Amino acid sequence: MNKNIAELFKDAVKSLNQNYDDRESEQIAYILFEEIGYNKHFLLTNPETIAEEKSINRLNSFLTEMSKGRPVQYVIGKAYFLDFILEVSEGVLIPRPETEELVVKAYSVIENFPEKPQKILDVGTGSGCIAISLKHKFPDIEVTALDNSTDALNIAKKNAKKLGVDIHFLQADFLEDEIASDVYWDLIVSNPPYVKKSEMEGLEKHVRDFEPMPALFPPGEDACIFYRNIAAYGAKQLTEKGKVIVEIHPDLHKEIKEIFEAKGFKKIEILKDFSGRKRILVGER
Ligand SMILES: C[S@@+](CC[C@H](N)C(=O)[O-])C[C@H]1O[C@@H](n2cnc3c(N)ncnc32)[C@H](O)[C@@H]1O
Repeated sequence: MNKNIAELFKDAVKSLNQNYDDRESEQIAYILFEEIGYNKHFLLTNPETIAEEKSINRLNSFLTEMSKGRPVQYVIGKAYFLDFILEVSEGVLIPRPETEELVVKAYSVIENFPEKPQKILDVGTGSGCIAISLKHKFPDIEVTALDNSTDALNIAKKNAKKLGVDIHFLQADFLEDEIASDVYWDLIVSNPPYVKKSEMEGLEKHVRDFEPMPALFPPGEDACIFYRNIAAYGAKQLTEKGKVIVEIHPDLHKEIKEIFEAKGFKKIEILKDFSGRKRILVGER
């Protein structure tokens, strides 16, 4: 006879415990149970419910994937970002909580612009998390989302469509191609690849084995290459008093600030994330 959902939950937590601590295992188990049709409220109020065969099979296949170290977002194909549920797959970075903080900062920067901004560029859009959030909040602003990865753009387009936001997508290599040299942006936002090559060894296994490396590591040895290009591009293609908001590597905040200063950016602020790490740079042309 099939087990009840409380017993099944306990078994799932035990299986997840191979890779995660107790607390994480429980949190992930709730996510997986939601996917198989038993949300947390139902689970807590109806623990004796006998699980359906198809739910058990689905759960088992999720647990098999999880046991290989695959992140839960790739296993269920979705990630939670602010108020949105975004589709993700292995071709795209799983959006991080610090990027939610960047978006919230961008909301207030946009609200405080001297004149209503008209055009925003998101460099390295990935799942589209930043571009979609901004367009959703400010539907009148024209938002362009750029990435060089076809997989990422396909997912970002799907996400935009599902969430009913109209974004311009641009496939280009930001380091190599000439980007929209006839367009002037009010705001350039970016969470570019910024992990240092020396950090490869220390990356958690689920990141190293499953997330796309070009989304994490810039090419070559210069960890700041994207900031150099964004600063140079922004100096030419931002409107007067146009701004940049970029996510940064906490260890590189001084160097990145100098890069923007050298290109004439003013009013540079470095903001800490929730865990107290210097994570976001805002600057004005
Ligand atoms: C750190 S991820 C950020 C993704 C998403 N914006 C987020 O915050 O979750 C960096 C993104 O930059 C893209 N990328 C890497 N190199 C690029 C390049 N040379 N030109 C354009 N996009 C690039 C990657 O495909 C990836 O989607």
